[in-house]
Amino acid sequence: MSSLHRPVDLPTWPGVIERYRSFLPVTPRTPVITLLEGNTPLLESARLGPRMGLRLLFKLESVNPSGSFKDRGMTVAVSKALEAGSRAVICASTGNTAASAAAYAARAGLPCLIVLPAAGVAAGKLAQAFAHGALVVTVDGGFDTALAVTREVSARLELALVNSVNPHRIAGQKTAAFEICDVLGAAPDLVVLPVGNAGNITAYWRGFVEYQAAGLITAPPRMVGVQAAGAAPLVDGRPVERPQTVASAICIGNPASWQGAVAAVGESRGRFIKVSDDAILAAQERLAAEEGILVEPASAAALAGLQELAMAEPPRGRTVVCVLTGHGLKDPGALPGAAAPPPPVAPTGEAVSRAVLSLLG
Ligand code: F0G
Repeated sequence: MSSLHRPVDLPTWPGVIERYRSFLPVTPRTPVITLLEGNTPLLESARLGPRMGLRLLFKLESVNPSGSFKDRGMTVAVSKALEAGSRAVICASTGNTAASAAAYAARAGLPCLIVLPAAGVAAGKLAQAFAHGALVVTVDGGFDTALAVTREVSARLELALVNSVNPHRIAGQKTAAFEICDVLGAAPDLVVLPVGNAGNITAYWRGFVEYQAAGLITAPPRMVGVQAAGAAPLVDGRPVERPQTVASAICIGNPASWQGAVAAVGESRGRFIKVSDDAILAAQERLAAEEGILVEPASAAALAGLQELAMAEPPRGRTVVCVLTGHGLKDPGALPGAAAPPPPVAPTGEAVSRAVLSLLG
């Protein structure tokens, strides 16, 4: 008997809280709010890595349920907010935290308040937040101002703050480092990731340190934090008053987890790098055209940083993980192909064949 549908034994993924429960601040009484985040692909580079003479792996955080790495931290933060009896969650955001908080709050049945900077939130992220029913306030200022005021409001109104200044966010996000080690059977030599408010680099470093302490890896990787040239406080060593970059997700002048980022880079003997907006957009285009991976500009900054590093001190033969933090569809306005389709031709085999042949050149 033949059957079209042959059931296969696919392992089921329980989400990051169940998978890494013993490393996380949860108890049997914590209600687990999950969208089955995590377990994201560690995809070998087809072209860009070999060209640089290294084994390059992309950690595709863009395929998390809301399209960014924020979901790892949000599952923990929202679960803990529910456990604590909070009546709502609140966050400031350049967009991805907002989208993720809105999704997990919807799942938990909690109201979600979002405080946005006046300019620079990408259309896709805004659409996500509204779709999940978030309540949105915009403030006249950038992300740093929005976060400062949100911290005050969360204390004043006793709302659960789910920005990465909440330690539960960092705890959840460190699971990405665990996954990388679990897949490779060791830590990579280098981890390169974009840095904005600096929660994520802090979280990765904590993950590697905890895995080493648990005897699961022998040595942690070097951490490379990449910032946009117009918003590079950690590279320049001082806050930036008016940050500016095409990578709106990391347009941040005074990162809340400054110390955590400095510790990650210092203790791992890594470094901070800044890259121009042109380099970011070129890296975004290369990832799309040569690897088949569509990311938003902030994520492409990681690759731009690696390419700059590779030119100065080629890390040949090394295993490098480049963290691709957010999906390209979130910020369609930043895509190189945002152009309109060509004018229509006659719907005949002959006309379309002529058009196809002229495109093939
Ligand atoms: N990449 C993307 C796509 C982001 O959205 C962010 C931060 C980062 C990188 C930097 O991570 O802040 O932990 O250093 N987005 C925040 C937000 C600020 O509000 O969505 P970080």
